[in-house]
Amino acid sequence: MDQTFVDNAKAILEKDTSTVPDFWQNKYKKEASRNWDLFYKRNTTNFFKDRHWTDREFEELRPGHVFSEQKPVLLEIGCGVGNFVWPILDRNPDVYVYACDFSERAVGFVQANENYNEERCKAFVCDITKDRLADTIPPHSVDIISAIFVFSALPPEKQAAAVLNILEVLKPGGRVLFRDYGLYDLAQLRFKTGHKLEDNLYVRQDGTLSYYFSTERLRELFVEHGGLSELANDYMVKKLVNVKKNLDSERIFVQAKAPIAGTSLDGSAPMDTE
Ligand SMILES: C[S@@+](CC[C@H](N)C(=O)[O-])C[C@H]1O[C@@H](n2cnc3c(N)ncnc32)[C@H](O)[C@@H]1O
Repeated sequence: MDQTFVDNAKAILEKDTSTVPDFWQNKYKKEASRNWDLFYKRNTTNFFKDRHWTDREFEELRPGHVFSEQKPVLLEIGCGVGNFVWPILDRNPDVYVYACDFSERAVGFVQANENYNEERCKAFVCDITKDRLADTIPPHSVDIISAIFVFSALPPEKQAAAVLNILEVLKPGGRVLFRDYGLYDLAQLRFKTGHKLEDNLYVRQDGTLSYYFSTERLRELFVEHGGLSELANDYMVKKLVNVKKNLDSERIFVQAKAPIAGTSLDGSAPMDTE
């Protein structure tokens, strides 16, 4: 990220010194699944578009990579109404997909979709911060876990538990594919006073939470807490034009791939275990 942009962004964030009172913080955290459920009640399946870009960004999702396994297994956490899942099922005839979300309504939309076929897909309700995935999915059986804009919905103190939960079902040699909001993203800079719970954690108008990740935070989660050997981890910056402000507006995402300990991102053994 450009240093002038970072300095300006920091100056904007430093101005917002107040935080949401504890009572409300606890309420938003306690009622997280209810608030997402209401989100899907209002928006049904119309809010997010199908994510057709995912195999451009993650080569693992293309046939011939991890998907060259005979019957690759994928787990999409925080699947919403399935916008990540449908293009994957469509393009990869052999893949089996587990998809979970803590909103019952979202899972219901997945199950009611015309593309839902129990021979190829299982959607289930699960709060990844507290319900053990290994109760539904055999331990160490999943080739790819996708975490697409879901960790930002978790309060930071629950993120490490979610990492350990997903790693329990990941195969040795499997991958976690992660994409989420990055530090200084346009949406973070646009929050007005009264929405901040703590640094980089905000509540939206509808009560859902939004956390903005630094690459350091991701490394801390997956390598220090999760025990992964390696993390390919970077900001994706998309400059927006025609914005009438001094500050350049940027959509900033973090994108990461994490292999399980004992393997490396190119599939060979990491140096320290040779
Ligand atoms: C921004 S949506 C992303 C949906 C989907 N991954 C996609 O790419 O379209 C975030 C989803 O995470 C779900 N979610 C948030 N916290 C969760 C939790 N603790 N356990 C399971 N799902 C959660 C929400 O219900 C919501 O459907």
